[in-house]
Amino acid sequence: MTSLSAVYDLAEKGDVSQLKEYLKTHKDDEDFLTTYVTYQREEDGDTALHAACRIGSTGCARALLRAGHPWNAMNRSGVTAAEVAKASGHQDLWELIVEEGVRVEMIMGLLGRKNEKEKEEGGKVIPNQEYLEQPLTYTEDRLVDADGLGVMLGWEEPLMRRHAEILCPRPGLDVLNVGFGLGLIDEHLQRFKPRTHTIIEAHPDVYRHMLDKGWDKRPGVRILHGRWQDVLPQLAGEDFDGIYFDTYGEYYADMREWHEEVTNLLRPDGIYSFFNGLAATNPVFHEVSCRLAETELRGMGLATTWESMPMDPEEQEEKNWGGLNGRYWTLKEYRLPTCRFDL
Ligand SMILES: C[S@@+](CC[C@H](N)C(=O)[O-])C[C@H]1O[C@@H](n2cnc3c(N)ncnc32)[C@H](O)[C@@H]1O
Repeated sequence: MTSLSAVYDLAEKGDVSQLKEYLKTHKDDEDFLTTYVTYQREEDGDTALHAACRIGSTGCARALLRAGHPWNAMNRSGVTAAEVAKASGHQDLWELIVEEGVRVEMIMGLLGRKNEKEKEEGGKVIPNQEYLEQPLTYTEDRLVDADGLGVMLGWEEPLMRRHAEILCPRPGLDVLNVGFGLGLIDEHLQRFKPRTHTIIEAHPDVYRHMLDKGWDKRPGVRILHGRWQDVLPQLAGEDFDGIYFDTYGEYYADMREWHEEVTNLLRPDGIYSFFNGLAATNPVFHEVSCRLAETELRGMGLATTWESMPMDPEEQEEKNWGGLNGRYWTLKEYRLPTCRFDL
């Protein structure tokens, strides 16, 4: 083996044929992938894929991905190669890496599902059990958990308003919301006078808050207290015109399971939507997650359209994030999903 940076150097030069040859010759060398293909340059942690993306070498990027270079490798500033491609004006490379991300994550998802099942055999795992057992704090426009993380923040108000408009476009409909939080979407749904308005909420503090605020007496409202996974049998035989999903502390795998339930709960001409906080701290991971969700929903017979809403992270900063221990959102655009059966 030559220098540690050999793969990086060839990618940086955009030398596709030499790079391919090198990758082929050394593919079975010990630690080739972990040490050589994913070598990070000293000064900033860029990998060969970052280098290929900077100079716009689609051939090198393809060869690297085929050799097993991770699509999502970050440099020391937390920037991925796809972001470098976009910033350098190489949209085709952004697209190539995003598509690779979807492909890999679909396979991982299938494997993940299997592992999850295996885990279940040794006992059911509740992903947000710790959260559900913590005390929560309500202030005027924030709901914060015991770790100082924002469960729901008031900056999402315009998003919740828009979701409600789409889900309940006229009075007299039957709507279902999973996850009450600050009750923002439920407040907006009420404005559209649904015939029935079912809310599923798992956290005991949130449930108590709902009762304190008289939500159990609001027109058409029925509260099901418990995790959606546990209370769903109470909805056996029912279906809805509009369904919204926005929980906390759960994984994408849980949402996937929920989507399977949606196909039974949604009326043929109904509308489903969810809070699109999918990997919302990185634009590439977000893009991959959106496409993954869209692909999986399509596989369940639901077609998704996305409405773009501009976001101002600085305005949010002033409004809501102060004093919290982390952010679940850093993007400049919200992509609101609307899903309908396309059968
Ligand atoms: C982000 S907040 C929802 C915010 C809401 N969309 C609004 O407009 O204010 C998430 C809520 O989901 C609840 N939750 C978390 N896991 C849940 C589960 N498995 N089933 C039902 N509710 C859950 C949390 O307790 C929290 O109240």
